[in-house]
Amino acid sequence: SRPRILIARAIFPDIVERLAAHFDVEANQDDVLWSPAELAARMADKDGAFTTGSQRVDAALLAASPRLRIVANMAVGYNNFDVAAMTAAGVVGTNTPDVLTETTADFGFALLLATARRLTESEHFLRAGLWNRWSYDMFAGAEVHGSTLGIVGMGRIGQGIARRAAHGFGMRVLYHNRSRLAPALEAECKATYTDKATLLREADHVMLVLPYSPEAHHTIGAAELALMKPTATLVNIARGGIVDDAALARALRERRIAAAGLDVFEGEPAVHPGLLEVPNVVLTPHIASATVPTRRAMAQLAADNLIAFFDGRGPLTPVNTVPYPGAPRP
Ligand code: GLV
Ligand code: GLV
Repeated sequence: SRPRILIARAIFPDIVERLAAHFDVEANQDDVLWSPAELAARMADKDGAFTTGSQRVDAALLAASPRLRIVANMAVGYNNFDVAAMTAAGVVGTNTPDVLTETTADFGFALLLATARRLTESEHFLRAGLWNRWSYDMFAGAEVHGSTLGIVGMGRIGQGIARRAAHGFGMRVLYHNRSRLAPALEAECKATYTDKATLLREADHVMLVLPYSPEAHHTIGAAELALMKPTATLVNIARGGIVDDAALARALRERRIAAAGLDVFEGEPAVHPGLLEVPNVVLTPHIASATVPTRRAMAQLAADNLIAFFDGRGPLTPVNTVPYPGAPRP
């Protein structure tokens, strides 16, 4: 009989149809937000799942899903996976690297420019009919071209941002990462490796693009914000929890840094109330990879992972190593 697949959130209808040609599919095209218990009940008889990053795959869910072999996440980040628990259970996880790199780097730049040049704040002013109050320093922001960009997290997306910054905007690029890039890649990105404190002290703009891990929790907190220039901006397109949002809200209110641009939040979709109260922040609802072609490519890659796995070709972009094809679940 055909493998049974759960598609946990609404997705492009033709991709549901494509999966339905291979599998017995239970789809959630009404996009109901299931509780963990409701998700677990639906997973009880499934061999595979298509997730979007907002469903937690942990030991409890795995215990409730005895047939499960693969979870295909439609995201490059997979902090919704308890990878150790999945590996222990013999369940492979897959993500969607590469297909979203340039689109996400574009968005990092959009958020940097919007933050430095106070785009949303000025639009609110215009819409409020306040334009008669012109002044010489109205929405005067920070310079982007020719300034120093500090990138924390130099994976593929970080490198894409570095190229845009160095080649497109004549910026000096500093980066910090767990490991240094190969010299040829450093040269291509025109990026200089520094420790985190130097980066925070010297950057006019700080961009966070590192994956979430417990070690990366609050990579930027009060102590790090205190190192930044009072004129600096901070952009987070990485993950909620990388920044201490309460400390950031305080720093923005007290103008200890100039502004922030945030696409991700601790506890999203909730947003720290302090961030909603300050004007010097640009807020977007986790949309850095959201272009039509890229969202399609991500969904196709997640579907390709499921199809390749059950075809016997193995997962295409796994995040963990489990015996393949392997024995049935213990
Ligand atoms: C989005 O945040 C992703 O990880 O793809
Ligand atoms: C992370 O995986 C990245 O592509 O930057």
